[in-house]
Amino acid sequence: PKVSLTGIKPTGEPHLGNYIGAIRPSLELTSTYESIYFIADYHALTSIRDRRELASYTRSVAATWITLGLDPARTVFYRQSDVPEIFELSWVLSCVTGKGLMNRAHAYKAARDRNAESGVADLDAGINMGLFNYPILMAVDILIMNTDVVPVGQDQSQHVEYAADIAGSFNHLFGDVFSLRIPEGIYPAGSSARTLPGTDGRKMSKSYKNTIPLFAPEKQLRKLIRGIVSDSTPVEQPKDPDASAAFALFENFATPEAVKDMRARLEQGGTGWGELKNALFETVNAWLSPLREQYEALVAPGSELDAILDAGAEQARDRARPVLQGVRRAVGISPL
Ligand code: TYM
Repeated sequence: PKVSLTGIKPTGEPHLGNYIGAIRPSLELTSTYESIYFIADYHALTSIRDRRELASYTRSVAATWITLGLDPARTVFYRQSDVPEIFELSWVLSCVTGKGLMNRAHAYKAARDRNAESGVADLDAGINMGLFNYPILMAVDILIMNTDVVPVGQDQSQHVEYAADIAGSFNHLFGDVFSLRIPEGIYPAGSSARTLPGTDGRKMSKSYKNTIPLFAPEKQLRKLIRGIVSDSTPVEQPKDPDASAAFALFENFATPEAVKDMRARLEQGGTGWGELKNALFETVNAWLSPLREQYEALVAPGSELDAILDAGAEQARDRARPVLQGVRRAVGISPL
């Protein structure tokens, strides 16, 4: 079977955007693809500077996947850092990747733009080499597992294309080591095609601190949802659902009938944003509240999570090793 692979970076509590962009589509693929899902903990090190945070978010991401339905018996599930082969291949692929390609990477360019906007003279100030090399490490994550498809949100499309480009550069120089499978992104469609907005209306993102964590306690979930930005159109007036962040979220979590009904009521007038947010909270909470207990048990220290990840690491290394051996041989480094 073809291989589906994706990763989530433990830079914060996993949130509704991660669910719509990656977790839900990835879990759907497990019935038809061989699935390989992991926690990109060394990717998180480009920004996390607190050891306890990194450890705790890693657990949250792992517990979230399992609570939402990842079956470790049918999915290779591991921490990136447990697979040293990834970091060896990362060096090799960095040696066949043009610096110019990395200069054009969106995340790196955005960091430089922020410096420019705030008048910092050195545009590379505060940018570490981990951030610069990020797309190479991600290409390795993908290529070392012989991946066919990568279910991710639209924001990751450049990274997936880079993985295919980097595989091409390697093949061109050293022969067709990665030629059998050129990875392709799979992106959410329909009402989920747009990246999910956060509480401030911008893309929901851990770095904007505008996320709605999947397993926030009920009280906090309610508070976050009530705090989603909305315009000040009075209750009686007609409203534009498509300009509303709360409605964009509602579209992703409510049934099609509930969405249709809410749209009609907002457009007609007489329904306030508060009512929409209440409905959104009820919908999301009804889905997640029966799962909170299992989540809490899994994140707790000493749960079965550690054994699951250890077993996953073994399976992941078993897959990575032959790919790395092929690469070592191809470049003229003797096999281990
Ligand atoms: P990360 O941790 O930022 O996000 C994890 C996944 O969630 C998706 N996502 C969203 N989808 C829709 N709306 C949003 N607001 C939203 N926010 C996040 C992302 O598109 C992603 O699919 N570089 C990756 C991690 C990674 C990876 C990989 C992914 C490392 N190696 C190999 C796939 C394959 C990242 O930072 O994701």
